Amino acid sequence: MRRTRPCGALRREHAGTTVVLNGWVHRRRDLGGLIFLDLRDHAGRVQVLVEPGAADAFDVADTLRAEWVIEATGLVRERPEDQRTDDGAGAVEVVAERIEVLAAADTPPIQVAGDERASEELRMRYRYLDLRRPDRMEPLRVRHRAIKAIWDFLDAEGFLQVETPLLTLATPEGARDYLVPARVRPGTFYALPQSPQLFKQLLMAGGADRYFQIARCFRDEDLRADRQPDFTQLDLEMSFVEVDDVLELNERLLKEVTHAAVGWNIATPFPRLTHAEAIDRFGSDKPDLRFGYELSDLSDLFAGTAFRGFASALDAGGTVRALRVPSARAGDLSRKALDELEAHAKVHGAKAMAWLRRDGDGFKGPIAKFLEAETPALRDHAPEQSDLLLLIADRRAVACGALGAVRLALRDRLGLVPDDAPPAFAWVVDFPLLEQDEETGAWTYMHHPFTRPHADDLERLESDPGSVRAEAYDLVLNGFEIGGGSLRIHDRATQDRMFRALGFADAEAEERFGFFLEALRYGVPPHGGIAWGLDRLAMLLAGAPSLRDVIAFPKNVRGGDPLTGAPAPVDAAQLEELGIRLADVPEPVEPTS
Ligand code: AMO
Repeated sequence: MRRTRPCGALRREHAGTTVVLNGWVHRRRDLGGLIFLDLRDHAGRVQVLVEPGAADAFDVADTLRAEWVIEATGLVRERPEDQRTDDGAGAVEVVAERIEVLAAADTPPIQVAGDERASEELRMRYRYLDLRRPDRMEPLRVRHRAIKAIWDFLDAEGFLQVETPLLTLATPEGARDYLVPARVRPGTFYALPQSPQLFKQLLMAGGADRYFQIARCFRDEDLRADRQPDFTQLDLEMSFVEVDDVLELNERLLKEVTHAAVGWNIATPFPRLTHAEAIDRFGSDKPDLRFGYELSDLSDLFAGTAFRGFASALDAGGTVRALRVPSARAGDLSRKALDELEAHAKVHGAKAMAWLRRDGDGFKGPIAKFLEAETPALRDHAPEQSDLLLLIADRRAVACGALGAVRLALRDRLGLVPDDAPPAFAWVVDFPLLEQDEETGAWTYMHHPFTRPHADDLERLESDPGSVRAEAYDLVLNGFEIGGGSLRIHDRATQDRMFRALGFADAEAEERFGFFLEALRYGVPPHGGIAWGLDRLAMLLAGAPSLRDVIAFPKNVRGGDPLTGAPAPVDAAQLEELGIRLADVPEPVEPTS
């Protein structure tokens, strides 16, 4: 065995023993004939002292540079009291007897030691160097512990882990597919799965009873900090269950996983909000429950208002929603800040956002003079002097959505969530089954077309589709949607009705999902499940700002991989073999990185 101990594991009890250490030269300092090396490996760092008397070792040490890989043999000794650091490892050093260079290194393009932070693009390009920093590797360790806990827990609960195909047919999760041309049948394509949805349902049809998979999923959609084109789900499915069974199992699993990964002790059961309640109170279907600032509905208060701006919205069937900023924090919001918040509301669809500041028995603000009739009633909503009301009149979805966005902007601007706030999990349940496309008026699914309509609402699927609730639930943590699932339709007749409600002709449904519809004819158990966005959960567990931090080799915002240069052009011969001719080759081909 070459290596007797990881560098980071040396402790005072090893003093007096000779060890063989392997690692990277983190730093080298030359102090009046003495050479100090900081030797680093996956477990930490230790100081190696090379004295001029250590003949060969000294000559080798003299040539070492940052990031060279070496083997150092030497005697462990306690460091003088005044040089110790408190992390335990700092209590000892190694006096080198022999040093061997295992690999030299050019000057790295990004620093490993030191505080200098290269741009994210450069760090992605040299991800393997970036990962040498312990704080960059830690999120991957968190992720590892989470996945191990998932495996252990679900195995003990009788779940069967099954892998499902990556080369498959399109799955309907609402994004664009990544396509893979099939050489054996030119002109045909596999799609990479957006999720294992249909396969896990077929596993229930196959009697698997309880399935899970750490599943790679692929979605071609606009990227954001919490989205990657290929990402990972914990996908699971259970037969003969109701909503409560799925949620209860997931709560126990999350308790276990978050404890194993980062030592959280979370409280269960999680609060459950209906979708309507989440929108009305927080302006979001993934509310951040770590702070208050709930919205209120002032539509009744403004019924019959003389103020045109609000009256026209109410006449058109809209609402007036308000967000109160209590006086203690309202003082932090200048006119300029209010303008910025209004601009933010506009980005989120509002035409305008008004504000009123409580002043004596009345209000100040650009529209205050139009609201004299409502002033007494408004006082109840701004009881303290200097309380601020932010108001949006619009369709419910727009007014709530925009104020919900302003609520989050206030969270960040006013620091409403303390660093040590406990994590806030929640379930959002009773989603609408369908939503209407504003432009075309067509109905489309909110989750996917296999979601079971609520039994009490099913009779209205054709007559009033917008009022039908789904047996669907989303899992929310600190304002992020970290999971989503539902009970599924398990009979052919309901599935056919669902496709018709979605405007699929029978033939079209048959063509796209015939294999699945056929399975529904042969006795499928009632079933339901969920998928967690594992990257998102790992990001929140690790306290990382982006999914890119918890993925070993992530894509950038343009969907490119700066390390490998993917996606990249391919040989003409390869295209030929696939029977593909490019209509329009961009010239020159831009690297995606
Ligand atoms: P859904 O589409 O809600 O459900 O996906 C489940 C969870 O996956 C995460 N997620 C993503 N994470 C990173 N990058 C992305 N591009 C991305 N897209 C989604 C989210 C989301 O909550 N088959 C259903 C699940 C089911 O019904 O059981 C599904 O995929 O955290």
